[in-house]
Amino acid sequence: MTTKTVSFSSAAVKFIFDAPLSHVEKLVAGNKAIFITDDNVYARHKARFKLFPTIVISAGEQHKQQATVDTIINQLVELGADRKTYLIGVGGGVVTDITGYVAGIFMRGVSFGFIPTTILAMVDAAIGGKNGIDVGLYKNMVGLTRQPAFILYDYTLLKTLPAEEWVNGFAEIIKHACIKDARLFAELKDNNIRFYQKDLSALAKLVQKNVSIKTKIVQADEFENGDRKLLNFGHTVGHAVETLYQIPHGHAISIGMGIACKLSAAINGFSQVKEVSVLLKQYGLPPQFEFDKEATFKLLSSDKKRINNEMNYILLQKIGKGVVHPITMDELKERLNNL
Ligand SMILES: NC(=O)c1ccc[n+]([C@@H]2O[C@H](COP(=O)([O-])OP(=O)(O)OC[C@H]3O[C@@H](n4cnc5c(N)ncnc54)[C@H](O)[C@@H]3O)[C@@H](O)[C@H]2O)c1
Repeated sequence: MTTKTVSFSSAAVKFIFDAPLSHVEKLVAGNKAIFITDDNVYARHKARFKLFPTIVISAGEQHKQQATVDTIINQLVELGADRKTYLIGVGGGVVTDITGYVAGIFMRGVSFGFIPTTILAMVDAAIGGKNGIDVGLYKNMVGLTRQPAFILYDYTLLKTLPAEEWVNGFAEIIKHACIKDARLFAELKDNNIRFYQKDLSALAKLVQKNVSIKTKIVQADEFENGDRKLLNFGHTVGHAVETLYQIPHGHAISIGMGIACKLSAAINGFSQVKEVSVLLKQYGLPPQFEFDKEATFKLLSSDKKRINNEMNYILLQKIGKGVVHPITMDELKERLNNL
């Protein structure tokens, strides 16, 4: 077990790597705590939820909505939760996002921690303090920025993670490599998902490397005025096609990264489109997809990233160097049509 405390401008977060879930008892230091998880994680790891009362929500993005928040809050009241109660989200990004959001509004804010159980949540969703829910089709439309007290990594929870969720998680790992770390990109080229599934110590190192990439970006720009926007690489078109075609998140982000690479080539002279696309395929991800450009653009126009008639698009200068590129909606429409 290794512990690292990372200070953000608003709070310090304790990262506990390679620890058993049961270690959480020490982290809440005698306070009341309540687990929040989803029915998949609960069914596969029931025995681990004996420590504290557990609220189980239905699994899936379609439940990251206000109705689930209301259900959780009603159960918190029934369980006698008070202002000193810790809420601990054990699950993927849906559970961590909603737990952080409920913790931010319940009694005007209670302490919370995360035990991520997907690769995506370990390297991305649990980190950075963005918590929120979707409103209808609009992803993450409502939320707040607030840091958890701790994030605990128990890699044994990944034993039950379905194959497609490994693929989803690696889309974000490839994203990190593309925007910030050419060496990580090279490491990924030499391996594949099976390698990391078999070698837990290589996986642990990979997760920690990605945690460090994300925490550094967030530390430098907690409230997303600058560099934190880089984390949206692949997510602009990605979120739109995810909504339109109900394809897995990682696939959507991969398609978004493919588009962003092509736009980077057209706008920035980026010359490594092929390399990125080969790596995506190596990890079971599609770099291309035939999508309805008009419907996609319509959804982009309601994206939170749009301000007036402009949007910040994330492009690559080279592998390992992402850049924020302001683009007008008119130009974006034209460039997408020309792809
Ligand atoms: N807050 C942020 O900064 C941030 C960043 C990226 C993504 N997100 C959010 O994260 C969400 C996606 O997260 P996700 O991909 O983890 O999805 P998810 O939470 O829906 O989990 C994926 C599936 O895996 C199941 N699962 C989780 N852990 C398991 C385990 N160990 N064994 C078996 N099954 C398991 C879940 O029940 C679910 O069916 C999206 O809502 C996205 O908006 C948030």
